[in-house]
Amino acid sequence: MRHIKENPFDLNEESLFLSQNILGMKQNLSIQNNIYYVGVNDRRKPLFENMWTLPYGVSYNSYLIVDDDTVTLVDTVDVAFFEEFMKKIHSIIGDRKIDYLIINHMEPDHSGSFGLFHHFYPDIVVVGNKLTFGMVEGYYGTFGKRHLVTDGDILDLGHHKLHFVMTPMIHWPETMMTYDENSGMLFSGDAFGAFGALNGGFVDSHIDLSYFDDEMTRYYAAIVGKYGSPVQRALEKLRNVDIKMICSTHGPVWSGENVSRIVGKYDRMSRYDTDKGAVIAYATMYGHTEEMAEAIAAELVAKGVNPVKMYDVTRTDSSYILRDIFKYKGLILGCPTYCGQIYPDMEALMEKISVREIKNHYLGFFGSFTWAGAAVRRISKWTEGVKMELIGPPVEMKQAMDDKDEEKAMLLADEMSDHLNSI
Ligand code: FEO
Repeated sequence: MRHIKENPFDLNEESLFLSQNILGMKQNLSIQNNIYYVGVNDRRKPLFENMWTLPYGVSYNSYLIVDDDTVTLVDTVDVAFFEEFMKKIHSIIGDRKIDYLIINHMEPDHSGSFGLFHHFYPDIVVVGNKLTFGMVEGYYGTFGKRHLVTDGDILDLGHHKLHFVMTPMIHWPETMMTYDENSGMLFSGDAFGAFGALNGGFVDSHIDLSYFDDEMTRYYAAIVGKYGSPVQRALEKLRNVDIKMICSTHGPVWSGENVSRIVGKYDRMSRYDTDKGAVIAYATMYGHTEEMAEAIAAELVAKGVNPVKMYDVTRTDSSYILRDIFKYKGLILGCPTYCGQIYPDMEALMEKISVREIKNHYLGFFGSFTWAGAAVRRISKWTEGVKMELIGPPVEMKQAMDDKDEEKAMLLADEMSDHLNSI
């Protein structure tokens, strides 16, 4: 039975907490040109999408454009932070009404506050595309005023003129970006986003950026990585746009030289372009398969491959392994046979590699068994559907590594290092 979503909050004037308790916020939320940051930091959620670990937290970014005669909000935040979100908005505009809510992306980490927000601003005009409105109704029930936009449409706010760019599949089908020609700020949705909370500020030049480079790669690998072609199409649309700042829904506001650096990084990642280096992802139960992984790693390093990243798939959140697969061209997988199958955690990683259609890599693999081998045969079958260049014959080890096994592993490592050293 479908839920009844009409007025789900049943609030009345007395229950509205937006009164005295939200007037105390003193943070400077200005970015520039009467555009403000009203996003929030989440340092409590353990897993993003209930899947990806968040050692540095994550931010849900939202922006407020205050023009002479109009106020426009770009995206909302996770509903768990609704009160803080409203405090920030109220500290900037007080009781002034908000005219437009632009929804660049409907995933609930950004649209989650829509229902409550719409209750407080029932006359707001929701700006989105056809797919946006269908999702709003599906998630939050019917709503009031709407302004439908298509690719290239412009919304004139007064000083600010917003251009809408449809960028489907970054990372949902309804996703779009909004570009303000007055400020040169691009509100990019998830694109150019990163895991990691914002510590004490929001513009890149004012905050510690030490973890954001890797956290952007990890975010891309986990969240956007399947959609390399849509990212390329979006970058093509943005090619001649004079972007002065990138305002993503996650991570810092990027400015100055970081704008072209971040766009270039996305371009490389979405083309599966990588650096010299290798990832060895392995599973092991009693250390025998790991011993072969260690031997291969030592040979790669001896032959000049650097870095070599080793990950036990059982002990490492797969987003870190995927992150480094998006960074380095060499990939070697190894695992034991388990119940006549591929070791389960390795199979899960292989599925994630397939889903992301990761290509342009050199791929080698090895496996082990005690009485009946299956891992190598099954990994070999999997490689038929993967667009990577296979390196060397796979190595299959029975029980523990003997001299012959080690020789074969060295051949695999040498062939991988020859290929990597030639790029
Ligand atoms: Fe941050 Fe696709 O949502």
